Amino acid sequence: MNFIIDEFHKLYYNSSVWQNTKWLGVPILKMPLDLMLYQEIIFEVKPDVIIESGTFNGGSALFFASMLDLINKGKIMTIDIANQPNLPIHPRLSYIKGSSLADDIIQEVEGFIKPGDVVLVCLDSDHSKQHVLNELRLYSRFVTKGSYLICEDTNINGHPVLPSHGAGPMEAVQEFLQTNHDFTIDDSKHKFFVSFNPNGYLRKIK
Ligand SMILES: C[S@@+](CC[C@H](N)C(=O)[O-])C[C@H]1O[C@@H](n2cnc3c(N)ncnc32)[C@H](O)[C@@H]1O
Repeated sequence: MNFIIDEFHKLYYNSSVWQNTKWLGVPILKMPLDLMLYQEIIFEVKPDVIIESGTFNGGSALFFASMLDLINKGKIMTIDIANQPNLPIHPRLSYIKGSSLADDIIQEVEGFIKPGDVVLVCLDSDHSKQHVLNELRLYSRFVTKGSYLICEDTNINGHPVLPSHGAGPMEAVQEFLQTNHDFTIDDSKHKFFVSFNPNGYLRKIK
């Protein structure tokens, strides 16, 4: 069974179809099964604020905005170090440019969140282990109890795709959880068999 799941995962990933996937016409670098999980999480958690690192073309931020429209609340801040042209415009969506680890960006994130806000975080920027580990440590404090810290692309470095990548998001999550006991891997998010974020849906439990 696991062999079949992993082979499908590799087939899907290696086809690069995820680089030709769009939300409302905007490229979105996510697997549709993960988008369904995001929809379920957003409906359950009903966040006031979503923070995303890694905007790229804005497809995932626009997807989050669409989900928030459906529940009629919330706003998004998305961060990217690069200038991204032709980003979608949406009233719930704010863009900031800079490194997700920079002090001034962290301050902007802090200012975006009001006391009492329910906060969801999605990390999808630089996928090197150290960068993701730093993001996990910096952004975990923004996540509210019962909500999620989602670490994208834990499937790379041979989990089961892109074995040549080197230590990445999966290894960062493993190290993060050794010292942070406020989060737990939500195993229920493996229910669709294939996810680009295995062990990456971290629920804040305290
Ligand atoms: C995988 S793409 C994001 C995909 C997007 N979230 C989606 O699902 O469509 C990664 C993005 O992270 C950005 N990035 C790389 N290093 C970064 C950093 N240190 N801080 C913020 N963004 C960074 C890149 O410029 C790139 O646009």
